[in-house]
Amino acid sequence: MQDFNYHNPTKVYFGKTALDNLVHELETQDVSNVLFVYGGGSIKANGVYDTVMKALKQCRINIVEHAGVKGNPSLNHARNGVAKAKENNVDLIIAAGGGSVMDEAKAVAAGALVPFDVWDFYCKKETVAESIALFAIPTLPATSSEMNGISVLCNDETNEKFNIIAQGILNPVAAFLDPQTTYTLSLQQTAYACTDIISHLTESYFTTSSDELALQGRIIEGLVKTVMEAMDVIMEKPDDYDARASFMWTATLAWSGIVQVGIPDWGMPCHSLEMSMSGYHDTAHGAGLSVLTPSWMKHAATVHLTRILTFGRNILGINTDNVDDVIEGLKKFYRSIGAPTTFLEAGIENPEIEIMTDLANKVFKSRGIPGYSRDEIRRIYKNCC
Ligand code: NZQ
Ligand code: ZN
Repeated sequence: MQDFNYHNPTKVYFGKTALDNLVHELETQDVSNVLFVYGGGSIKANGVYDTVMKALKQCRINIVEHAGVKGNPSLNHARNGVAKAKENNVDLIIAAGGGSVMDEAKAVAAGALVPFDVWDFYCKKETVAESIALFAIPTLPATSSEMNGISVLCNDETNEKFNIIAQGILNPVAAFLDPQTTYTLSLQQTAYACTDIISHLTESYFTTSSDELALQGRIIEGLVKTVMEAMDVIMEKPDDYDARASFMWTATLAWSGIVQVGIPDWGMPCHSLEMSMSGYHDTAHGAGLSVLTPSWMKHAATVHLTRILTFGRNILGINTDNVDDVIEGLKKFYRSIGAPTTFLEAGIENPEIEIMTDLANKVFKSRGIPGYSRDEIRRIYKNCC
């Protein structure tokens, strides 16, 4: 176990009454001007929009709306949010929706306090030192953005999809998680969330030796099994409260940092490949991961074969010495929940392998991820055709 410091300042309200605490938390923050960030309207269908507006009006807080955040959130749209936050002296940001909404809200929270362009944080020219306070109301449990200090943004001009990691600074002050708000998710969106959660958990599981995973490996296995079982129940009964609740809390834990402490950080290679895929082809993040993970596992097996075989035995119930059996077993699970396993199934007829390889190569270099030559990155992409 490596040394670590772990501090997570996010206060979490979880359950059917989670949003009842919004007024109390607004009063605690003593705010005047709120920027309310959301996407394309799902929060109007599931009642979250009305709940937030009611609470803000009850507290007599000025409201500035920043709607229309899209999946793979756009830098230009975030810049527009930064301008609104500056013009209106915003002192709290409320983000309600999926990871894209929360990530763009974080971009605004950091960007509104500095004189330079917010992209400077993402291309690592500048470091985030402070942020406007943020509340998160996740309605798509996948990214853990509600409880971490990470934000991912897409540059509209260059197609680069880069992140900021500012743990402890960009974490929401409070997060309100009501599993009932996820009933309106389609099964496809839920499946993509499932593949994302599995990836957050297995990136380190597949790249770390067994000795270093004595504790964390078991936590990861428990979480992966939980989300797979919850997914099976949700496919039969999308409004099963307990399954949605297990799914939601697993999602929050998976990438909140608590699972990964004490084990080496290898820089999320599969996610780095995916960010270049969704950054260029504008595919859903979870769809990209179910396409890329099997091909990437083949690479991971060249370093830690036993981890892949242990995953096969402990998670998929496959006893084998052949890594291809485990990879096929995971693909079978992905197919069973309706997640794609090839570029074509993800809607990409002509994958731009060379462009993605260039973009990913840049990300691997900037993150200092070892063991991936350009040829290896290209090979992983090609295997997804
Ligand atoms: O725009 P609206 O109308 O809100 O609809 C959204 C969107 O179309 C919809 N949705 C959300 N909640 C819903 C709902 N539809 C019905 N009912 C609900 N309750 O879902 C669609 C997709 O939303 P999006 O936010 O894009 O999905 P997700 O949560 O998967 O976020 C993906 C983004 O997060 C980044 C990804 O790269 C991607 O850009 N990530 C962020 C991370 C982080 N901050 O730590 C880590 C992740 O690994 C990931 O990279
Ligand atoms: Zn992810």
